[in-house]
Amino acid sequence: MSVSEELQQTIAEMVDGRRGILAADESNGTIAKRFDSIGVESTEENRRFYRAALLSTEGLGEYVSGVILFEETLGQADGAGTPLPQLAAAHKIVPGIKVDKGKGPLPGASGDMITYGLDGLAERLEGYKAQGARFAKWREVYPISSHNPTRLGLTANAEMLARYAAVCQSVGVVPIVEPEVLIDGDHSIERSAEVNEQVWHEVFHALHRHGVVLEQMLLKPSMVTPGKDCDKAPPEQVAEYTLRSLRRAVPAAVPSINFLSGGQGPEEATANLNALNQLWQAPWQLSFSYGRALQEPALKAWQGKAENGPALQQALNKRARLNHLAMLGEYQESLERE
Ligand code: 13P
Repeated sequence: MSVSEELQQTIAEMVDGRRGILAADESNGTIAKRFDSIGVESTEENRRFYRAALLSTEGLGEYVSGVILFEETLGQADGAGTPLPQLAAAHKIVPGIKVDKGKGPLPGASGDMITYGLDGLAERLEGYKAQGARFAKWREVYPISSHNPTRLGLTANAEMLARYAAVCQSVGVVPIVEPEVLIDGDHSIERSAEVNEQVWHEVFHALHRHGVVLEQMLLKPSMVTPGKDCDKAPPEQVAEYTLRSLRRAVPAAVPSINFLSGGQGPEEATANLNALNQLWQAPWQLSFSYGRALQEPALKAWQGKAENGPALQQALNKRARLNHLAMLGEYQESLERE
């Protein structure tokens, strides 16, 4: 298979109008915070147990077409010795890998951030591919303030995302391009729309310059919402602002937009996705790539106890199913109580 055929095959398996992505790629620092919230120590064994439990959820492949893993997870196996990427694939879930190496301040642009990890990326990707990964994820982070993101922040972050995406495609790995505009702060929904639109515009300009094939990538953006220190906007308003900005900045060639949850609660993220899919027949699939919004109830159900494995899986399955319904525009709040 040529590299392009390989990319197309992965896109075809991941984008089918009814499934989304489970983001389970928390770095060791981030998963420690999540485990901390339920009083569980973040040991390698606890991480392995938890992620193996997520991936062996019966029926998950009905609602989830891809899973983003952390490097450590790619090399771990379930209790029966099946490597976790193979376990996902057996459920018709394409395994992927977070390849960025975290973020730090962007020198010269006070308040903006930049992500690390481009050096040696092609070689690393070959190794991940050998372990079963077929797509990758890279996240750039944009805080909103009165002066952020700066012009330099916008261009430097877009350049990183485009270089990463071009490297991925050159080795047959589908890139998920994730420009996360943070929800932190007291900015209005209008300000969020303005920033997201600038970010996407700059990102697609850079992707074009670097020759990235838009048909063979996925976009993982934030939804347009007010900052988390403000009152929440109703789902219809989030959908309206988000779609207006996306229409202005994202080419129709992109097959799917898989939103991050970014601090939205599980029910909120589902209701917003539902409103997006109800509002307008978009040229792109509108789907999810949630971390917290899929995992929070599962973590709470688990509490670090092996005997709670079935409850963990039930909680994950429920959120995945409701988000699948939201993709069809068929979610209703009453389903939360079933
Ligand atoms: P959240 O949905 O929790 O924001 O996580 C998605 C993700 O992959 C962030 O990089």
